[in-house]
Amino acid sequence: MASKRNRLQRTRAAVAARLATPPEQPNVSLFTLPGPNGLRIRAAEAVDLADFRRLCATAGVDIEDEIAAAIETGSAGEAVYTGLTSGIGAFFDDIMTRLDSMSVPALRELFLRLTVALVAESDDTGVTGAALAFPPVGIIMNQLKQLRSLGASDETRVQLTLAGALRVSRIKAVAVRDDARRSGVGSALVQACNSAFSQLGYSSIYGIMPPSIGLRMFYSGLGFTILPPGQPYTFAAAGLPTAVQADDGEQIFYLHPN
Ligand SMILES: CC(C)(COP(=O)(O)OP(=O)(O)OC[C@H]1O[C@@H](n2cnc3c(N)ncnc32)[C@H](O)[C@@H]1OP(=O)(O)O)[C@@H](O)C(=O)NCCC(=O)NCCS
Repeated sequence: MASKRNRLQRTRAAVAARLATPPEQPNVSLFTLPGPNGLRIRAAEAVDLADFRRLCATAGVDIEDEIAAAIETGSAGEAVYTGLTSGIGAFFDDIMTRLDSMSVPALRELFLRLTVALVAESDDTGVTGAALAFPPVGIIMNQLKQLRSLGASDETRVQLTLAGALRVSRIKAVAVRDDARRSGVGSALVQACNSAFSQLGYSSIYGIMPPSIGLRMFYSGLGFTILPPGQPYTFAAAGLPTAVQADDGEQIFYLHPN
């Protein structure tokens, strides 16, 4: 009799414990914004990788294995998303932790944590758009090399780099599926990047595009300045004594969000 009562008590306790446990949370992306026509703009995840690659290829961009792996593991853009949810202090902490060692692997990891890979999707349409933006790694490495050759201490190098190059992002690819173009998807993706970088105090967002009236209209409509073909872009806004030059016929577009 007593053991039956005990069993009942144990069962009640187990049921009560189960009811007290919140239902399992769906896997909420670290970064999600509402887009046009019920779309979500969110951080690309492992499940999006094939669509992400395909779309970026239409913008002439092959996704490096390292970036694909970071999207798969969820580390792509983590510093940016952490900064957006926990504040600019957390963003700097994330950067500083990696910059402290100044090792090449740590810098690669930092580059990936600052790499923003977004998709536009809905349950009905699937993934209809993709955007990829990351720090200009070549510029950062040159900057560090220059400072090293000038004999600057590690700390000075870190501070100068932090102050400038790491808060520059290059829009490497934006692409929208053929059947979803001209309905604001591309704009929503770029605006999501702009708003994230602006909140984190970035000084410059830029990109290089082939000559095209459509692209000029697209980027100028989003507030970017388009340089004439062949004109270099200087990183003066980021405090860097360096410039980037587009290939023949290509044009640089830029925005200084802060
Ligand atoms: C460029 C691209 C991403 C634009 O995406 P989208 O979702 O169609 O763009 P939006 O609907 O947000 O367009 C916003 C505005 O940009 C301008 N625009 C966009 N595409 C245009 C085009 N082909 N011709 C003229 N203007 C265009 C228009 O002013 C448009 O506003 P409107 O439709 O009210 O006239 C898309 O055309 C694409 O994927 N192209 C192929 C990949 C590519 O070249 N990427 C850019 C590499 S730098």
